Amino acid sequence: MANTIAGVAVGISSATPRLSQRPISRSSRRFSTVKMAVSLDEKKKNFTLQKSEEAFNAAKELMPGGVNSPVRAFKSVGGQPVVIDSVKGSHMWDIDGNEYIDYVGSWGPAIIGHADDKVLAALAETMKKGTSFGAPCLLENVLAKMVIEAVPSIEMVRFVNSGTEACMGVLRLARAYTGRGKIIKFEGCYHGHADPFLVKAGSGVATLGLPDSPGVPKAATIDTLTAPYNDLSAVEALFQSNKGEVAAIILEPVVGNSGFITPTPDFLNGIRKLTKEHGALLIFDEVMTGFRLSYGGAQEYFGITPDLTTLGKIIGGGLPVGAYGGRREMMEMVAPAGPMYQAGTLSGNPLAMTAGIHTLERLKEPGSYEHLNKITGDLIQGIIDAGKKAGHAICGGYISGMFGFFFTEGPVYNFDDAKKSDTAKFGRFYRGMLEEGVYFAPSQFEAGFTSLAHTPEDIQNTIAAAEKVLRQI
Ligand SMILES: Cc1ncc(COP(=O)(O)O)c(C=O)c1O
Repeated sequence: MANTIAGVAVGISSATPRLSQRPISRSSRRFSTVKMAVSLDEKKKNFTLQKSEEAFNAAKELMPGGVNSPVRAFKSVGGQPVVIDSVKGSHMWDIDGNEYIDYVGSWGPAIIGHADDKVLAALAETMKKGTSFGAPCLLENVLAKMVIEAVPSIEMVRFVNSGTEACMGVLRLARAYTGRGKIIKFEGCYHGHADPFLVKAGSGVATLGLPDSPGVPKAATIDTLTAPYNDLSAVEALFQSNKGEVAAIILEPVVGNSGFITPTPDFLNGIRKLTKEHGALLIFDEVMTGFRLSYGGAQEYFGITPDLTTLGKIIGGGLPVGAYGGRREMMEMVAPAGPMYQAGTLSGNPLAMTAGIHTLERLKEPGSYEHLNKITGDLIQGIIDAGKKAGHAICGGYISGMFGFFFTEGPVYNFDDAKKSDTAKFGRFYRGMLEEGVYFAPSQFEAGFTSLAHTPEDIQNTIAAAEKVLRQI
């Protein structure tokens, strides 16, 4: 089902693309956006990061590492980060005036394209009524209903403010519901930065090669058991040695935080079976995959229903949001319906609800996922072909609007395999692509994202740039 190229060979979907995205209004842009008219060489000649460098040097005096989230600092790819001025559709502009085709999408939320006109208009309307109520509002009902209708496992939902919060809440709920303490997570999977999850974690922890973080008390992680991704026998062994103690397995149903890694065909089914056999809950952390792999997330895509699900990113349409949900009898344990405490000053914020509602409405339009699948398939195939032609060991894959590639022959089944990638080469590729006007996630261990606003021209320009850079590195 997953499309993996030159790693685990699986066919590319033949879904017909329907390029139904609206043209992007560029009237307010300060910079030229006619990408085809600007040659790659011309672009490189004009490329300067002087203002970004000045701003980042100032930022380093003000904020740890100059950033508010570690991977943004470009530590693993070398050089300094670009400081962004504005975004629209599939493109970003930095403060030096450089334009980029963006494959980060604010780390996932921008699936319909940045600064969508309808989302902006709806936000402006909501804002007239205020920015935060701290009390129930109708918009919460609307988004909750949309989420419940879309995601198979969710009968009731609680909104929070980030994916981290969603994972913290769902873990407490799993422990409260089962009366058990231990959890199983997978090496290289990231579930936010709460203490119990900072064990062999992915994302920035993997990117920076950090051991498990100082400051996390032993007591917080003693009940966190880990196994390699795609390894059912390791999970079975953990259940055997911790009989009756495991509350839940939490996993990314497709990994995006050690690079892009898909589950093998029997892995998710096997995990579902094992959790049932051992009386443990299955939690899909769909903060990244929710509404991205399909409208109903990975669980709809793979046809496997977990007990509990976390969401974030897309359901906030670019504003801070997270959510967790599951079967009614479990969710009714959450305060004030039940005794499990969890709360939030800004939870259910009207602006976040508005952006989420309009993002999901746009995604629901026919052809959305066919478009994502088509352009992402073309993109990754083009990059892999260019890499192989230039003589590099390279493999990669994609599902809908999520993709990744590694500088190794593959196959990549887990984080240990991912670490075989030539990260120094990735760094050189990264810097080269940046100068050609392509912005990937600044780490080998992060997935990439496309959006409904990405056009075939974006993809062709990216592949042309990749061909050039891959010949040079
Ligand atoms: C799968 C997954 N879970 C949880 C999180 C944490 O979300 P946030 O950064 O919103 O706290 C992330 C963030 O990337 C994620 O990818």
